[in-house]
This record gives sequence, C-alpha cells and structure tokens, in this order.
Amino acid sequence: MYSPTPDDWHEVNRARWDERVPIHAASDFYDLDTFRAGKDALRDFELAEVGDVTGRSLLHLQCHIGLDTLSWARHGASHVVGLDFSEPAVETARSLAADLGLAQDRAAFVAADVYDAAEAVPDSAYDIVYTGCGALNWLPDIERWAETAASLVAPGGFLYVAEFHPLTDSLDDETGSRIVNDYFVRDPWVDTSPGTYAELDAATVHNRSVEWVHPVGEVVTALARAGLRIEFLHEHDASLYPRYGALQRHEDGYYRFPADRPRIPMMYSVKATRPAT
Ligand SMILES: C[S@@+](CC[C@H](N)C(=O)[O-])C[C@H]1O[C@@H](n2cnc3c(N)ncnc32)[C@H](O)[C@@H]1O
Repeated sequence: MYSPTPDDWHEVNRARWDERVPIHAASDFYDLDTFRAGKDALRDFELAEVGDVTGRSLLHLQCHIGLDTLSWARHGASHVVGLDFSEPAVETARSLAADLGLAQDRAAFVAADVYDAAEAVPDSAYDIVYTGCGALNWLPDIERWAETAASLVAPGGFLYVAEFHPLTDSLDDETGSRIVNDYFVRDPWVDTSPGTYAELDAATVHNRSVEWVHPVGEVVTALARAGLRIEFLHEHDASLYPRYGALQRHEDGYYRFPADRPRIPMMYSVKATRPAT
C-alpha cells in the first residue's frame, strides 16, 4: 500500500536486497553458469540504443550482481565500474569478474549508496553512465539522482537509462487495463511480499520494501535541469516479465498484450548527453 516514507526505508531496502543476492546468484533466472559461458545479459534494445562501447569507460549505477556491467565489458568497454549499496551484491559481482578473467582495471565494483556515487567511484567522470530496469523505483529523490548521475558523465559522454514505465504501476495487476493507482503519487509503495522476482517461492525473512514511482516527465526534466541534453525518450510496448496476467510471452523473450488489445508503454529508455565543451 502507499504510505508515508518510513524512517528506516534505507536499512529496510538494503536488508531485503542483501538477503536476495545469494538467492539470485543460485537462480535459473540469473543462470550464472550460462553467463560465465558467454551469455549476454543485456537486452537487444539497450545494445542498439547505446551503440558501440568499444574503448569507452562505463559506470553502471545500481549494478546488482554485475551481469549487465560485465556484459558491457564483454562488448568492448575499456573499463567498467559497477556501484550498488548491497555488499553481498558487490562481492558476487567481483567474484564473477574474476571468473571471467577481468582484473580490477577492466571491471571494478564499489559498495555505496547511489547518492554517494561521485565520492565512491574511482574516476571523476565516465564516457557512459548506465542504469538498467528496476533501479529508479528504489530512490526517493529523482532530482538528486539526476544531479549525481549527470555529474559523472564526461564531456562528450552520455547517460543511458532503461526503466520500467511508471504507468505500469497505475494499472491493475490482472488485466493491465484499469487505472487503480495514482500516476503522480508521492508516497512510496510499502510492501511485505516474501520471495523475489527471480525465485517467486524463495523463503525469505527481510520482506519489507519501500519503492517510489517517478513519472517519466519528472525523470526527463530532472536530467535536463542537471545540464544534460535529451537525445531521445523511447517508449517500448513490451515488458521483461509478465507484469500483468494478460501479457503473453513472445519468441523474442518479451511480454506483450494480445494483438487485439490496445497497447501501452511498459518500458522506456532515455539517452542524454553532456556537451563536449
Ligand atoms: C532490481 S536491481 C537492478 C536490476 C538489474 N538491472 C539487473 O538486471 O540485475 C536494483 C538494485 O538496486 C540496488 N539499490 C537499491 N537502492 C539503492 C541505493 N540507494 N543505492 C545503491 N544501490 C541501490 C539494489 O541493491 C539492487 O541491486
């Protein structure tokens, strides 16, 4: 339910993530053996929209266990840095990097809050700052996030965000066709569901979570205010998971509404550049 922000939101969320890291690392969802063997963790639209990363430095904010971060290294990024506030997530990412034979100068992982990223990461700026689906909802203040992320983009570089579309949180879980929640809600969604998206039936004890909805307009405006130039805002008619009972899985792995249903955006992506001078 939507409730005022509890004082302990940060500890609550971190405890939830810390507990889920070993479950994720052992899950079929993340399938670390296949990843180690060479499977790409990135989505095709991210690869197409980010473009060639060869020789470029890349910072991944809220990197979780590092699969996406390390995939960018495999695609040729010269130096990747992943940041996450969960120590177990960062330890798992470091161990995966070692398995892949990537030394610290190719792939480094830092445990820190995203709002402290500028002080925590090894370099003052990166060619690409990246953040992937399921990240912004954990942050209470999107303007502060945008300022932090933008400050880490090197001149001539860009920020790329791929996220679940906040409209999806306004619609009913079964059909995805009725508006049941306020799109502009300020209070966070406070939940106590056990398990995790990667292992629905996992036995867990740290089950509270505190998550915020950030309307797309506020995210884009915050990035522009932080001094970045918006190159595109793309909305995607697919999701990475069965967000609503009505969605169908397609051969490309994405979930969409049946062909006779009107479509809505379920993910979006933004590219925002810092001018070269
Ligand atoms: C859903 S995961 C990101 C998923 C990632 N795109 C993937 O596919 O693995 C969200 C991550 O955000 C991290 N996180 C949440 N709040 C954070 C904060 N305030 N600072 C840094 N990391 C945070 C969590 O520890 C978690 O690893």
